[in-house]
Amino acid sequence: MSWTETAYADPHAYLAHRGELTVALGPRLESGDTLVDLACGDGGLADYLPGIRYRGVDSSPEMVESARRRDRDVVLADLNDYEPPEPVAATTCFRAIYYARDRRAFFERVAGYTRKKLVFDLNPRQYRVDDVRADLLAVGLDRLELRPFFSPQRFVLPGFAESTLHALERTPLATLLLRFRFSYLCAASRRT
Ligand SMILES: C[S@@+](CC[C@H](N)C(=O)[O-])C[C@H]1O[C@@H](n2cnc3c(N)ncnc32)[C@H](O)[C@@H]1O
Repeated sequence: MSWTETAYADPHAYLAHRGELTVALGPRLESGDTLVDLACGDGGLADYLPGIRYRGVDSSPEMVESARRRDRDVVLADLNDYEPPEPVAATTCFRAIYYARDRRAFFERVAGYTRKKLVFDLNPRQYRVDDVRADLLAVGLDRLELRPFFSPQRFVLPGFAESTLHALERTPLATLLLRFRFSYLCAASRRT
């Protein structure tokens, strides 16, 4: 069983929703765009980004090995130091933003090699959104789109319940739910 299959009760539902928002939130990704997935684990997300040229980065040799067994293009590196050989359209960092030693310096490095957007998830009970927005602004990422992301990690929902939760993401009730559970998906980009 892969790491992704142990980490998510319903990997398909979870990663399909993450993949869809990674493409659509903020400036849209197009077929042929390149994407670097920092702290990629075993690269499970790659299957849910059709047409996108995916490269994973992880600091765990076991994860990198596991991602390579799944035929991923993956590099063993620390997200705090990594820079791709060429700029990429998008950078993602899921369930790992807390590994940034200095968040502003991390954003600055990523902004230096990312043309369209940085997409990451953020638990608003752990971090103040305004603090994160200020760090992004300081490095020139002056547009931040936030979307509540309501996919459970540890249990499987019947299809209709999953769809209902996703529909709630766009309602005023979402802010209330975020006080207790779930995270935001964030897309940071430049206005111009
Ligand atoms: C909770 S997993 C998330 C994996 C994947 N992004 C996901 O959301 O399914 C965290 C991952 O971060 C990796 N990691 C931890 N510290 C890191 C660092 N400094 N640089 C790169 N990867 C790191 C771990 O090896 C692990 O694969």
